[in-house]
Amino acid sequence: MLPIIQNRPPPDVIDLGLGDPPLALLPLDLIRDSAQGQLIQTDKSFLQYGAEQGDGRFLLALSNFLTKGYNVEARPENLFIANGISKALDLICTLFTQAGDTIFVEQPTYFLALKIFADHRLNVVAIDTDENGLIVEALEEKLTGARPRFLYLIPTFHNPTGATLPQARRARLVQLAREHDFLIVADEVYHLLSYIQGPPAPFATYADSENIISLGSFSKILAPGLRLGWLQAHPKMIERFTACGLLDSGGGLNPFTSALIRGVLESGGLENNIKDLINAYRSRGNVMDAALRRHLPQLEYAPPQGGYFIWARLPANVNASELRKRAPAFKVDFRQGALFSSRGGLENYMRLCFVRYTEEEIERGVLRLKECLESKQQP
Ligand SMILES: Cc1ncc(COP(=O)(O)O)c(C=O)c1O
Repeated sequence: MLPIIQNRPPPDVIDLGLGDPPLALLPLDLIRDSAQGQLIQTDKSFLQYGAEQGDGRFLLALSNFLTKGYNVEARPENLFIANGISKALDLICTLFTQAGDTIFVEQPTYFLALKIFADHRLNVVAIDTDENGLIVEALEEKLTGARPRFLYLIPTFHNPTGATLPQARRARLVQLAREHDFLIVADEVYHLLSYIQGPPAPFATYADSENIISLGSFSKILAPGLRLGWLQAHPKMIERFTACGLLDSGGGLNPFTSALIRGVLESGGLENNIKDLINAYRSRGNVMDAALRRHLPQLEYAPPQGGYFIWARLPANVNASELRKRAPAFKVDFRQGALFSSRGGLENYMRLCFVRYTEEEIERGVLRLKECLESKQQP
């Protein structure tokens, strides 16, 4: 059988590492209603090569959605539609770097972004983080030895740590990017999935600075199969994207899908979907937090505030990669910390995702994890 889904763990395994949304919460009805509305009308323009920046009506709907969601004005001229953040990152590497260039990332960072940077043969330098995200002094120290083409960071509800960068650090980073002339590529994919209190303003707030690119995506707030996302940047930067060969040849990156889901934005359906996700994910996060406290008190972690992940520190003598080899025997899985490192280390960390499974499955998965960990500790 040829695969139809990217990540499908064996049916009896609870893969607490996987960062995909739950299939049951992907809103088919909402998308169907919107798509039907588009498919029964007579304007065929969305079947043509699309405008390079993205369909004007979609840009308007997205700017209205973001203005409300981010609580700061998002103007259509600062937006560019991409096939998700992954494609936007790839395009940024193509347009702003050459093989061998240095870029900075957080330690740890989103492991699949590291693969995109490896595809472009970039020299990745990791900057230390703490419980509040990137340590600005550590960045400043690295800046004395190198000027990166860009700094890639996940400022809010980080993957994998869950950490959120405080406002003062954000402002200082923007200042440093201007002083040292590098780009900040802020991956804000989890910004709207906030379970306790709203995070500081996104980097999209600084989209009028030529040093800032904010990335957003429908993958975690609607459905990843749409392959639809956006970036926000200064109009001069937007021009770099719209004028590139890929866009010149192929036109806008996703005119068909953006036309089909424009109604989801215009009807307020996306906002309602996000509210539903927040309610479900908040409870799942609480359930995982309680189960970990009860069954695995040896783990150290920060309870979830938003996003998808818990980043748990195992006792110093436990190697998560070794532990993971034993996990299939217990029908459970997770992701070892080392995956998220561009420079080694993080051996005694694991990433757990609390959104993918039901509350009962999370309980069961954590119990299996406990058995797995206890088996490891036996001589
Ligand atoms: C931090 C981060 N960035 C980007 C992505 C992928 O985004 P997209 O589906 O828009 O390509 C993910 C998905 O897990 C993610 O966690």
